[in-house]
Amino acid sequence: MAPPAADVDLVSHTSTGPIHVKKVVAQSALKEPLTYSGSLDEYKSFDVTKVIGREFPESQLSDILHDDRKIRDLAITVSQRGVVFFRNQDLSIEDQKILGSKLGELTGKPETSKLHRHALSNSKRGLAVDENGKLDDEVSIISSEQNRKFYKDRFSAQSKLLASQGWHADITFERIPSDYAILKLIKKPEDAGGDTLWASGYELYDRLSPSFQKLAESLTATHHQPNFVKVAREFGEELIEQDRGAPENTGIDFTASHPVVRTNPVTGWKSLFGAGHQIEHGWIDGVTPRESDILKAYFLQLITDNHDLQVRFRWNENDLAVWDNRSVFHTATNDYDGKRQGNRVVSLGERPYFDPKSVSRREALAVAS
Ligand code: SIN
Repeated sequence: MAPPAADVDLVSHTSTGPIHVKKVVAQSALKEPLTYSGSLDEYKSFDVTKVIGREFPESQLSDILHDDRKIRDLAITVSQRGVVFFRNQDLSIEDQKILGSKLGELTGKPETSKLHRHALSNSKRGLAVDENGKLDDEVSIISSEQNRKFYKDRFSAQSKLLASQGWHADITFERIPSDYAILKLIKKPEDAGGDTLWASGYELYDRLSPSFQKLAESLTATHHQPNFVKVAREFGEELIEQDRGAPENTGIDFTASHPVVRTNPVTGWKSLFGAGHQIEHGWIDGVTPRESDILKAYFLQLITDNHDLQVRFRWNENDLAVWDNRSVFHTATNDYDGKRQGNRVVSLGERPYFDPKSVSRREALAVAS
C-alpha cells in the first residue's frame, strides 16, 4: 500500500548530490472562499481597470498593519482584484515582511509556508535592504544593475528581444510557490520608464471556450527555471540550496509540476496558471512536444494580445504594489537606462491545486450581481 502523501519522500538535486526531501501536505486551511467584511471601505480607493487592479491613493499601510481584520480584507481585495497599489509608503522593510507573512497567515496558508528565500536574488549578492546596510535573505531585491550583469540584453533599453517574453508569476519553479508578493520601489530610473504590468489569470481562463477550459483543467505543466544555475556558474554566485521558505523548496532542480488551471482558495475562482515565462523552458505534461509548444504559445498570446485584461502601473519612489501570484502574471518594462531598485517580499502559499467545484470569476460576479 502506498504511504500517505505526506510521508512520501522526494528527491532534490544539490551541488553535492541528490538528497531526500519530505513531502509536506501544504494545503490551504480554507474550507470555502473568504468574504470581504467592508473594513477598508472607509479609505478612498478606485478600480484601475474593469478587470484588474485597485489603488488606495491616500492610505498608509503602516496605519493598518496591526489590524488583522483590515489586513485580511486587504488580502481578499488583492486576491479578487489581482493587484493593489499604494502611493508613497512609509512602511519599513521589517513591516513589509510582517505584511508579507500576515496576508497569507490570515487567509489560511499552511504553517510550513514562510517568506521565500530566493535561490539567487538573496543577500549573498551584497545588496542592502536599507540605508544601514542590512542584508536579508527574505527580501529579493530587484536591481536593474544586477539584472543587466546577469541577464544582459533582456534588461537593456537597446534590446531587440520581445518584451512579451517577460510575463511570469514569481517563483513557480518551486514545489510550494507564492501566494502574495509585495514590491516597494526604492529607486526610480532618472530617465522615463520602468513601469510594471499585470494580467489577470482569472480573465485568461474566462477567455477560453468551454471546450478549451475543460482541456486546460485536465492538464498539468512543468515549470522550469534553468537560468539560476547558469548565472551561478558564469559569475561564481552561490545559490541557496536548502529550505527556501518551505521544506520542499530545496535543491537546484528549479522544476515543479503544477495544474494548468489553479483554484485560488481565497476567492474560490479558477485562474490560468500554466502560462508565460515560467513554462518557457518547461512543458505541458503528458502531451506531445508539438502540442505542448502550441498550447504554450496560445496561452502566452492570450496574455499579450488582450490589453483589456492588463493593468500598467507607473511608479514613483516608495510606491508599493501587492499582488496574488496564484492568479496574476506580471512583467517589468526594461525601457530605461537609469538605475531602478526595489525591495520585494514574496510569501509562500499552499501547494497549487485545481478544485473541479470552483467557479470562474465571471460566473461568481454574475451570481453576485
Ligand atoms: C518582479 O518580477 O517581481 C519584479 C517586477 C518589477 O521589477 O517591476
